[in-house]
Amino acid sequence: MRTQVGIIGAGPAGLLLSHLLHLRGISSVVLEKRSRDHVERRVRAGVLEQGTVDTLIEAGVGERMSREGLPHHGIELRYGGAGHRIAFEKLVPGRSITVYGQQEVVKDLIAARLSAGGDVRFEVEDVAVHGLESEPWLTFGGERLDCDVIAGCDGFHGVSRPAIPEGVLEVFEREYPFAWLGILARVPPSSEELIYTRTERGFALHSMRSPTVSRFYLQVPADARVEQWPDERIWAELKARLESVPGFTLATGEIMEKGVTPMRSFVAEPMQYGRLYLAGDAAHIVPPTGAKGLNLAVADVRVLTEALAAYFERGSTDLLDGYSAACLKRVWRAQHFSWWMTTLLHTFEEDDAYGRRLQLSYLDYVTSSQTAATTLAENYVGLPWAP
Ligand code: FAD
Ligand code: DHB
Repeated sequence: MRTQVGIIGAGPAGLLLSHLLHLRGISSVVLEKRSRDHVERRVRAGVLEQGTVDTLIEAGVGERMSREGLPHHGIELRYGGAGHRIAFEKLVPGRSITVYGQQEVVKDLIAARLSAGGDVRFEVEDVAVHGLESEPWLTFGGERLDCDVIAGCDGFHGVSRPAIPEGVLEVFEREYPFAWLGILARVPPSSEELIYTRTERGFALHSMRSPTVSRFYLQVPADARVEQWPDERIWAELKARLESVPGFTLATGEIMEKGVTPMRSFVAEPMQYGRLYLAGDAAHIVPPTGAKGLNLAVADVRVLTEALAAYFERGSTDLLDGYSAACLKRVWRAQHFSWWMTTLLHTFEEDDAYGRRLQLSYLDYVTSSQTAATTLAENYVGLPWAP
């Protein structure tokens, strides 16, 4: 079996790449280890940058998102007993975000690929990459797929990054001494906009998915397990952290899903070796506080699509050779922003009283200076694509 681009992973990166390549007349096969049902139900990100929304619409897969997604023009930073709005419409006019679940994006992309006759294989076992230096091929479940190029879109725990020989990649990373407990609940949001809260008990985030479904995150110890968090404890802790301004009451309801996410910053450079190109979480991870992971995956895939189109249409390797450098500029901006938002809003046990005062001072600055607030806003809604 032969294809032009062998794609490992049917997350947002792999699926969008396959779809964008199809629009350019380039063939691909997507190999996914989990079931279709599993990837369509996996609850993760929810904040789409303006550029991500534009990309999905331009690619013809934004119809349901345009109907069901929730456009947001600001967020609230809540700390010290008061809420402070970061107003995108004033600080970054014309740019906003859309709240639309990652698994909905994944569903839309799978439907688009399948209806166009795309080759997306689920529950594929033992994917392995070979021949990266010259003529690559993939093996899986006893089959062989020859490719011109392989795209490693298999997330942080995939097989593509570890297939790069030792000594090639330089890794930059930072672990945080806490995790996020995320829940999805059948309850109308208690706020129209997202609330990022810093309290002495830790960070909490109020997000949503629809007028009847809310999403919440709690800062928890790094070794926390879901079993330690029965529903009553979660609601009590969310209330303790979010009901920190006068007159705000958090509505509670049935918890439909719970999960603990570790917090990590990670970049592997370069994002390429031989005929293998890494995209999305396979190459880099950000802590979710800045809502950047999915958006970075989309940014990588845009760059990779242009580079592959130049290669297959004109035989030009210039853009492919520059792929890693082109992506890493945006990746590092998002790394900094995500680290900064995390540092600003979480409680660090090792922090002394001095550290806490610094944190509060910066929060006061961000919520009182238009210049500082604009820095937050323009990074949050996403910087424009590189020319
Ligand atoms: P993934 O979504 O991880 O997809 C990789 C795919 O590869 C998976 O389907 C996996 O099953 C498959 N795979 C793995 N190994 C193999 C193998 N050996 N063979 C075949 N297939 C394999 N980002 C945002 O932008 N905004 C947010 O608001 C946000 N919030 C988040 C909240 C949480 C709780 C979490 C966990 C993440 C959040 N993120 C957010 C990050 C975002 O979800 C990820 O960055 C995004 O999923 C990356 O997409 P990807 O396609 O690169 O990787
Ligand atoms: C959501 C996730 C995030 O990481 C974030 O910063 C904001 C919202 C969400 O899942 O809705």
